[in-house]
Amino acid sequence: MTFVVTEPCIKCKYTDCVGVCPVACFKEGANMLVIDPDECIDCGVCVDECPVTAIYPEEELPDKYKSYTELNAKLSQNWPTIDEPKDPLADAEEFKDVESKLEMLDENAG
Ligand code: SF4
Ligand code: F3S
Repeated sequence: MTFVVTEPCIKCKYTDCVGVCPVACFKEGANMLVIDPDECIDCGVCVDECPVTAIYPEEELPDKYKSYTELNAKLSQNWPTIDEPKDPLADAEEFKDVESKLEMLDENAG
């Protein structure tokens, strides 16, 4: 089992989640974070920290976000660890309620 970062994070990247993770398993891309499933200890404390409800336990993912399990596993291999919160992306407020943001995902490292 693991926890998974999903679409609402894209173009927002609030990073509140990073501040509470006890094992530093968040990885940073240019406009999204993901969770390394090999490092996550399933504590769940990050879930309530995310202002846009982007994080779910793997087995409770809404259907529309099921593909994010694989995406987190894949991208976490290429992105660097982030272990300190930072400012959200400049357009975060503008994009926090936007849906269907997957096409806006930048797969470059953050
Ligand atoms: Fe980190 Fe716990 Fe969230 Fe996993 S569930 S990413 S270990 S805070
Ligand atoms: Fe993303 Fe939410 Fe963390 S927007 S960076 S999962 S606090």
